Order: sequence, then structure tokens, then C-alpha cells
Amino acid sequence: MNKIDWSELIQAAENVRQNAYAPYSRFTVGAALKAKSGRIYVGCNVENVSFGLTICAERNALFQAVAAGEREFLALVIATDGPEPTPPCGACRQVLAELCGPEMPVALTAGPKRSIHLLGELLPLSFDKSFLDKDKGAAAK
Ligand code: THU
Repeated sequence: MNKIDWSELIQAAENVRQNAYAPYSRFTVGAALKAKSGRIYVGCNVENVSFGLTICAERNALFQAVAAGEREFLALVIATDGPEPTPPCGACRQVLAELCGPEMPVALTAGPKRSIHLLGELLPLSFDKSFLDKDKGAAAK
């Protein structure tokens, strides 16, 4: 059983949040994702004047990890600067669910305020690859 060092992960998320490029929303987000390898991957939000091109911190972190060859993940911290811990957007929940299991803990932090959830609680009844199998549930021929 891998024990999560939450303080290390929170620190990493808080540090990368300082690098967020958020001149439009002024809402800075940092994410730190712990892979099964033990490595931590970080991402911040990067906004664009064409607003829809903005990338969220969580997807940024996951994509960094995948690019480094990681496929299995243990825990995620999302640090925001709002008054309350902020849950990930729906798009990020769906992207995380592609490679992170429903049992993966997701900690949300806003300064000293914390809340912790499982990914499966954040995205119940998710669309996953099992639904692409059109023969699923069909009687064997
Ligand atoms: N943002 C994230 O980075 N992650 C989320 O899950 C929610 C939103 C960013 C995108 C944008 O730069 C700013 O927060 C305001 O929406």
C-alpha cells in the first residue's frame, strides 16, 4: 500500500500555482499529481486571450505525466487561491477519469482549508471506454 505524503504534494501544488498564467480570470490554480512511480507531476492553468484555449491546471499536470511515460496514479492535489477549496471542472474530471481510478483521492486546498474526495465521487456514473463496446450485454451468438 502506497502511503501518500500529502504535505509534499500540497507544497508542490501550491508552488506551481505561483506560475499560473491567469491575467484574465486572476484565478490561479496549481495541481500536483503523484504517479505510482513515486514521481510528482505539476501543472498550472495557462490562459489565452482566446479564452476557450485556456488549459486547466489538472489537465496540464496529467498531460505532463503521460508525456513522461506515466500511466498509473495515486493522488492529486488541486490548490486554488479562492476563499474555499475549489473542485475541478467537469472537463478535467472526465480527463482524469481516463487514467486515474475512481478510488484515487483528490485533495482540494485553499490556503489552510482542505477537503478530500475520491475521483469516483467527483465524477459518478462516468462515461468510460466500456460504453464503446457495442456488443456489451448482448447475448452471445
Ligand atoms: N481552472 C483550472 O485550472 N482548473 C479547474 O478545474 C477549474 C478552472 C482555471 C481555468 C481558468 O484559467 C481559471 O481557472 C478560471 O476558470
